[in-house]
Amino acid sequence: MNPIIAANWKMNLTIDQGLVLIDEILDSSPPDNFDIIFFPSSISLNSVSIKLKDSGYSVGVQNIHHENSGAFTGEVSAKMVKDLDVKYAIIGHSERRQYFLETDSQVNAKINNTIIAGLCPVVCIGETLEQREAGETSDILKKQLMSACNNIDRKLDKFIVAYEPVWAIGTGKSASLEQVQDTHKFIDSILKTLFDGNIPILYGGSVNAENASEMYDIKNVDGFLIGGASLESNSFCQIIKNITKNTKRSL
Ligand code: PGA
Repeated sequence: MNPIIAANWKMNLTIDQGLVLIDEILDSSPPDNFDIIFFPSSISLNSVSIKLKDSGYSVGVQNIHHENSGAFTGEVSAKMVKDLDVKYAIIGHSERRQYFLETDSQVNAKINNTIIAGLCPVVCIGETLEQREAGETSDILKKQLMSACNNIDRKLDKFIVAYEPVWAIGTGKSASLEQVQDTHKFIDSILKTLFDGNIPILYGGSVNAENASEMYDIKNVDGFLIGGASLESNSFCQIIKNITKNTKRSL
């Protein structure tokens, strides 16, 4: 499996800024054996998609509504973005859960709709600091995962999970190698009960060039969901370079 490098731009970069960033990244000729996915804001999807045509890299949407159409002011659906050659959708990011009060059942509905539209969901799960300190991490992750995968065909192979501890997002304090190892192993054991095939697990939360190359050596770390470090070509390309150089895994 190629390493999956997902750039979550969140509510950053104008259309022009995003296109300049992609030009810089493409100019640095990242290796072919990486699955690189850009998640720009919804208004940039079309331009980014056109820019990436035939580049081998993909575009994803940061959020979708769980219905295909209707009176939902301000929302976009999976069916709509599919027309823009969007292949992935981040679902259940902790910022959506925290600031937009998305529930586990809404996350499940969005995942179902994403799959019906033919997109691959990138499903985010993660515990808060309080939950980790209270020893609840496994329970929380299991609950989020079981609920997210409710009614999902176990033969599905277009499905990605991103483990993003809430306390590590945008804080500069990533999870330790040991925490990532234990947690990804646990998530993989749950996924094995839910799916027949091998579901990739990304790590997200203050990923940088240094910790990415160390973490990629860990079993069950199949790539990264990168926020801050994806907004600048040097930091983003350095992550890819370091994974290529340092990994003990054969790429
Ligand atoms: P970060 O964000 O890399 O800035 O911590 C990751 C994410 O929220 O996906």
